[in-house]
Amino acid sequence: MSKPRILLFDSGMGGLTVATAVAKQMPEAHLVYSADNAGFPYGAWKEDALRERIVKVLGALIARAKPDVVVIACNTASTIAMAALRDAYKVPFVGTVPAIKPAAAQTKSGIIGVLATPGTVNREYTHSLIHTYAFHCKVFLHGAPRLAEIAEQKLRGHKVDMAELKDEVAPVFRKRDGGRTDVVVLGCTHYPLLTDEIAEVAPWPVIYIDPSSAIARRVADVAEETPVHGEIEDVPAHGTVILTSARGEASETLTAYGTMGFPRHEVLDLPV
Ligand code: DGL
Repeated sequence: MSKPRILLFDSGMGGLTVATAVAKQMPEAHLVYSADNAGFPYGAWKEDALRERIVKVLGALIARAKPDVVVIACNTASTIAMAALRDAYKVPFVGTVPAIKPAAAQTKSGIIGVLATPGTVNREYTHSLIHTYAFHCKVFLHGAPRLAEIAEQKLRGHKVDMAELKDEVAPVFRKRDGGRTDVVVLGCTHYPLLTDEIAEVAPWPVIYIDPSSAIARRVADVAEETPVHGEIEDVPAHGTVILTSARGEASETLTAYGTMGFPRHEVLDLPV
């Protein structure tokens, strides 16, 4: 049987948390990772410009990698661009959105924290998830300006500044009417790279929701329903990361991708 070719996409290294879960769920799959490092970080982009950028970059990536399934392993991208991507390209897409529904199912205090990028917290889509699934809860949404960058630096081998980290996450730890936050949604794929450090600076223990394994199960289901192209010549090998700027070729960055299962790389130059 042919292996399904899966293209994972993020602005940077965060989608590696999803890639790891997909590799575990589907050890037979041919995985290619892509990072729009020329556009990183996505958190501060204006919506229309970002949607346009994502559709353009995915067009080039799909043409290069010829995937059977594309995983948008980025909340900031998924919450604005899924409809535009599905309109533009025929390949099936799986997205990643903040795990508000499981958080609402798990909270006992009814107080939920959502850590995400500034872009994701402003999205209509995120607010409608809260209205639909967590209308009965108090939800503290926080757009953390530097958290994705801190996660990337950690993966590159730099020390995490714990005082800075503490300030980035503090706004989701709240007390209300005798209760306190007991569930925190990691609403950006970069953040599970920092779960241990976040737990260390948190004022009290909570449940952290990392949706990667649920996304991986969804990817496996979609791949099973999708006709697989089979072997095609001249596509990136399994374990390749495609970057959109040669800036990402710094050796500590490539080493980080290598340790996460993507030891090969290519640059598809797509300047912003
Ligand atoms: N990893 C991305 C997400 O899931 C975004 C990080 C960024 O580019 O700011 O939202």
